[in-house]
Amino acid sequence: MNILVTGGAGFIGSHLVDALIDGGHTVTVVDNLSTGNRAYVHKQAAFYELDIRHARELEDVFARSSFDIVFHEAAQTLVPYSMEHPKEDADLNIMGLLNVLELCRKYAVKKIIFSSSAAVYGDNDSVPIAEDTLLRPTSFYGLTKMTAEKYIQMYHDVFGLPYAILRYSNVYGERQGSHGEGGVVYVFSKALARGMAMTIFGDGEQTRDFVYVKDVVQANIAAMGSQIPSDIYNISTNIETTVNALKEILVYFSQLSAVVSYADARPGDIYRSALNNDKARQVLQWRPKTKFIEGLRATLDYFSEEESQ
Ligand SMILES: NC(=O)c1ccc[n+]([C@@H]2O[C@H](COP(=O)([O-])OP(=O)(O)OC[C@H]3O[C@@H](n4cnc5c(N)ncnc54)[C@H](O)[C@@H]3O)[C@@H](O)[C@H]2O)c1
Repeated sequence: MNILVTGGAGFIGSHLVDALIDGGHTVTVVDNLSTGNRAYVHKQAAFYELDIRHARELEDVFARSSFDIVFHEAAQTLVPYSMEHPKEDADLNIMGLLNVLELCRKYAVKKIIFSSSAAVYGDNDSVPIAEDTLLRPTSFYGLTKMTAEKYIQMYHDVFGLPYAILRYSNVYGERQGSHGEGGVVYVFSKALARGMAMTIFGDGEQTRDFVYVKDVVQANIAAMGSQIPSDIYNISTNIETTVNALKEILVYFSQLSAVVSYADARPGDIYRSALNNDKARQVLQWRPKTKFIEGLRATLDYFSEEESQ
């Protein structure tokens, strides 16, 4: 199939592009490299350094290819940044998406697959959270992801554009940056590799549902199927892990001694987070295959090697 990946030079997008090309698809990447890395983009992918907010240039890309599927990964991904810059966050996460949706509609794309987030649920203690839970985002980032979901659903209802909305929990793995929601794994791994202090925001007992990037990629690929109903799917492990436990495992693996300090919790951060993945298991026939310790080991090895170069 002919596929566009926006944000395909980023952490999740670049792994997705690799898997799509391995699967024999033709892939185009649009990315402005604001947080992405050109070196992560597979050599066989066509690459356009382009901001999705530039509608005319983006249209040129759509007009040149006839995309069957669009994966929309490009976004402002930082919760703290969204709290300081709500307008910028909305400009990219809503208006940028609308450019993509308009072109999907105009060029009869068969499906859009959207990267949403656990941030749409906000603080909710009844974990693991299922898809039909009331959405109460506590950050502007969560609000723009929620709004983006509603636009996608309305494009489906009004214009018949099929979709899959994938709400990721905290994604971690190789090529991850300090930005993004699973960024804590990167931050701790880098601090360990550099012998620097690790800072935990809050008491460290906040929980996250850490899902490995290559499992997230497989969920995206499963969602491509034309028989998959347009719907919202949590992509997660169902398991809560505390930030303190994450720190302990990484310190144990690295065999390095670590200095840990605690700072005030950041505004907008969720305290408990785990997503129920039953629907993705049943409908997408997907499950997270990577054990946490295996994924963490691979991630830590990757960053240790990067640091030693
Ligand atoms: N990493 C996580 O834990 C996580 C969790 C939930 C949802 N998500 C979502 O998954 C998607 C990918 O996130 P990621 O962690 O890979 O982040 P990332 O920052 O590594 O990837 C985002 C990519 O989009 C590109 N981009 C940003 N603004 C752009 C613009 N205006 N035009 C074109 N390209 C632009 C960046 O350069 C980058 O390559 C995002 O939509 C994010 O909100 C991520």
